[in-house]
Amino acid sequence: MRNDIERVLIDEAVIEKRLDGMAKDIERDFPGGTLVVIILLKGALVFAADLLRRVPRPLIIECLNVASYHGGTESSGKVDFLDRHFPEVKDHHVLLLDDILDTGRTLHAVRQRLIEEGAVAVHTAVLLAKDKPRAEEVEADYVGFEIADEFVVGYGLDYQGKYRNLPFVGVLKLSATS
Ligand code: XMP
Repeated sequence: MRNDIERVLIDEAVIEKRLDGMAKDIERDFPGGTLVVIILLKGALVFAADLLRRVPRPLIIECLNVASYHGGTESSGKVDFLDRHFPEVKDHHVLLLDDILDTGRTLHAVRQRLIEEGAVAVHTAVLLAKDKPRAEEVEADYVGFEIADEFVVGYGLDYQGKYRNLPFVGVLKLSATS
């Protein structure tokens, strides 16, 4: 798996240090009480597990299955909600976690839906944000790292279902995508 990586963009130690900072910011910004956290599967799994263990407050953790990439390296332009049931968010403050902000379609669509479902407020946190114009007007409240507009894998992010368990964020060799 490591042999398929062209270069490491963000290594494990740097990610860990940044998560300490993000968790402190989240803890400082939210009013007391229980916070509902929505993890977007599967990409945000690793990020969420490491971030949320650093947030010492009552959390209700929910997951949502959405699809926008369908296994390739290009966004499909459409966001599908794949679950039969939507988490209960009415009258709650919600923190929405995703792996990466790219076109912005996913965060925009899920945020809208959370508001429609009665969330008091929706804040968003992403591990990565690509430095590019968004297709939808949305930015994350908490961003781990800004990266260039290139396809990345590792630390939850996949190419055709693989590489999610790499402990760092990296760029694939061209040969691994053919
Ligand atoms: P949008 O375009 O909706 O994209 O902001 C968000 C979702 O697209 C996936 N995505 C990526 N997945 N490497 C990946 O493995 C990437 O470089 C990448 N860029 C976008 C991801 O699932 C994210 O939630």
